[in-house]
Amino acid sequence: MRDNIVKISENIYGVGVVDSDIRMFHGYQTPIGTTYNSYLVVDDKITLIDFVKRPFADEFVKKIKSVLGGKNIDYIICNHVEPDHSGALPVVIKEYPKAVIHGTANCEKGLKAYYPDVTFKFNAVKSGDKLSTGKFAFNFIPMPMVHWPDSMSTYLEQQKILFSNDAFGQHIGTGEAFDEQLTQEQFIERAADYYANIILPFGTQVRKLLDAVKALDIKTICPAHGVIVKKQILKIIEKYSFWCENKTDGNKAVIVFDTMWGTTKKLAQKLSLEYEKKGYKVELINLSEKHYSYAMARLLEAKYIFVGSPTLNNNMMPSVNAFLTYMKGLKPKNRAACAFGSYGWSGESIGQVNDILQSCGFEVLPQIKTMWNI
Ligand code: FEO
Repeated sequence: MRDNIVKISENIYGVGVVDSDIRMFHGYQTPIGTTYNSYLVVDDKITLIDFVKRPFADEFVKKIKSVLGGKNIDYIICNHVEPDHSGALPVVIKEYPKAVIHGTANCEKGLKAYYPDVTFKFNAVKSGDKLSTGKFAFNFIPMPMVHWPDSMSTYLEQQKILFSNDAFGQHIGTGEAFDEQLTQEQFIERAADYYANIILPFGTQVRKLLDAVKALDIKTICPAHGVIVKKQILKIIEKYSFWCENKTDGNKAVIVFDTMWGTTKKLAQKLSLEYEKKGYKVELINLSEKHYSYAMARLLEAKYIFVGSPTLNNNMMPSVNAFLTYMKGLKPKNRAACAFGSYGWSGESIGQVNDILQSCGFEVLPQIKTMWNI
């Protein structure tokens, strides 16, 4: 489906590409690939919204040409500089040198830094600015730090479409074009995974975006990754409102651990049983089997985070260290956390895990440690 042009409404086409094979997105595991979405809006003037990643540039230009034939692109709206959305700029500008790129002032700086050898026309826009293309007009809604300084959404008022770039995105590269092709559970699971691994540190900025779009009549959200949202608009906005406040489910716990000879695993299983008996929904995540970005998504709504590591060479296991470094950077808040683990003689790992949990600002529960075995 996504190998083809996606007709979104009269004169609006999805011309993005599917990256079904990507499994690692700057350190974040993408188990079912992703898409780099781009949209063509054909009015008296023709507008392209966002580019795609560089390796897909030729395929992208071919798709644009299949819609436009020999017509030119008048405007390009660059909602975000990150190379998954701007990488094809040099190739597109070579084909359409007259196109004027519209984006935030930070976008201009970023594009000039990334593509110093490319000459392009740029019009810096700010909140409240409009771009008329004939029958249609675009409204620009900068959303700094959702999730880069240059990030912006664009609203097409006549069609009630929000081109939201990374906001409301999901890494889904299995071919579906619209959310109605997925169950609500499938859609929200991928959106949650994306939020936890990309957007989570920026709750305050997400709140500002939600406030800005609250007044808009939105019938379609066209994000820069994953499926176009029509059916689940209320649900995804409800979820973003919950996540951006760092709200959690007080009945959910995740237990993230690695193990050497099985004792820390036994401790994890014991904790899991204890909490399940108390009525908690518990998920056990063994870092030898699951990537830390998977763990991150699972703890998005969990009130309790248990982190377990045996002591290896006077340290915690490297896998646990990687998880903690990653989690700390994504700044989950309002959690209670507990360090646990086993050891043979020195036992430093549990205290090290505890210190990092403390530095995350969590309410830290008493450490649980055992020597050799339980
Ligand atoms: Fe999808 Fe921030 O790039």
